[in-house]
Amino acid sequence: MTNNDSDLHVVILAAGQGTRMKSSLPKVLHRISDLALIDYVLRAADAVAPASTTVVVGHRADVVREHLRTRPRIEFALQEPQLGTAHALQTTEQVLAGRTGTVVLLSGDVPLLSPNTLRRLVDTHRGANAAATVVTATVERPYGYGRIVRTDGRIARIVEERDASPTERQIREINSGIYAFDLAPLFESLRGIASQNAQGEFYLTDLIAIYRRRGLSVETLLIENSQEIRGINSRTELAEVSGLLRQKKNEELMGAGVTLVDPATTYIDPDVEIGADTVIHPGVVLEGQTRIGAACEVRAHVRITDSTLGDRVTIDNFCVLVGARVADGAAIGPFAHLRPETVVGEKAKIGNFVELKKTTMGPGSKASHLSYLGDATIGAGVNVGAGTITCNYDGTRKHPTVIEDGAFIGSDSQLIAPVTIGKGAYVAAGSSITGDVPPGALGIGRGQQVNKEGWVARKKGTPAKT
Ligand code: UD1
Ligand code: CA
Repeated sequence: MTNNDSDLHVVILAAGQGTRMKSSLPKVLHRISDLALIDYVLRAADAVAPASTTVVVGHRADVVREHLRTRPRIEFALQEPQLGTAHALQTTEQVLAGRTGTVVLLSGDVPLLSPNTLRRLVDTHRGANAAATVVTATVERPYGYGRIVRTDGRIARIVEERDASPTERQIREINSGIYAFDLAPLFESLRGIASQNAQGEFYLTDLIAIYRRRGLSVETLLIENSQEIRGINSRTELAEVSGLLRQKKNEELMGAGVTLVDPATTYIDPDVEIGADTVIHPGVVLEGQTRIGAACEVRAHVRITDSTLGDRVTIDNFCVLVGARVADGAAIGPFAHLRPETVVGEKAKIGNFVELKKTTMGPGSKASHLSYLGDATIGAGVNVGAGTITCNYDGTRKHPTVIEDGAFIGSDSQLIAPVTIGKGAYVAAGSSITGDVPPGALGIGRGQQVNKEGWVARKKGTPAKT
């Protein structure tokens, strides 16, 4: 907060409904991976350290406000009704009153914008002492964007797709909808904008012609990577931009030494970190604040959310990990489910059809087949047999299970919590354990077996064979 640029203010337009999304959710709250579109825009804005950030809300303003509730230092302007982009900017006049310097205007629906481009915009604008600077790009398919009309090489005006003549539609230089404005002439000039156009809206883009007529200087910043300024107006564009973002993340990771067997089917959120020589197989989804160490192997069709993996961890096919921590050299899966607050120790093994919740597995411990371990603290070198269940829930409350170092739990046992299995103790297979088993003891909790000789024959009424 200390190094903020006191003469720089960011305004983000987010009042539109986003009609083309056909959604009850405001457009800027649609998500790419785990972030809403507007979150990306705010992240880019943070990079230029503005003195203030104002978000213009309108359509379902309360929902957008609520989404941004936890973000510090955001001011809001309410645009009601939404009469166009110029009108939207006008609504910030009160909020920005008394402030000086530069306003950077961003669109809430342009999420890929890089901090670097924003810095260049501010530098270009200030360097040229311009009244307005427009970020533009030359694209193959300009359809839908405002076009940059130049005379003698200088920007003369911007014409919207729907208002453009056939010749103007041929122009491939487009308006990104991202600008820098000098605050001094801005609000007074916005009042000069009319709504005589195809949509009957107050177009911010009309400001350019007004400035040129009044002899105020307008600059452009033509950027190379036009992908960065892709706006999202439909679900198709949302999917396309998601794809671009994913591709960028995948390329960064591969550049840093991670093998992605099939990048096209690998879905990795922007904040995920992965160490070198880790191999990620097809169909893997890595979400949220996930960190994966070096030389791990994540096999096909695994989802990992908000989890931390050490080095040399193997996650076999079809596992789901949410909020788990897995230490170096551990092996998980196939078909394992690690739920929040699970901690798997070094070189521990969690096999197929094992579910862990709020459970700590000590180093070298194993639960290889078919188990539910919940609210359990399991020490080192423990063997949890196939089919072991911690009965942690009595219908009202959850109860803990403790299994101390070196214990051996025979297959198909139920540990009825609260219960402690002492150090090195054994539990006989097929037991229902209702009381603590002392260290070094054998706990057997099952009915005595009885064999009834000749029972089958008697039942069928035939004499027993001798
Ligand atoms: C706008 C530009 C166009 C540019 C394109 C880039 C205008 C008139 N056109 O068109 O030149 O090529 O962006 O993506 O400015 N909004 C409000 N209030 C309103 C209307 C819109 O806050 O009354 C917000 C929207 O929520 C959105 C942004 O402004 O975040 C852009 O609006 P949108 O309707 O998407 O404009 P485009 O038609 O894409
Ligand atoms: Ca748009």
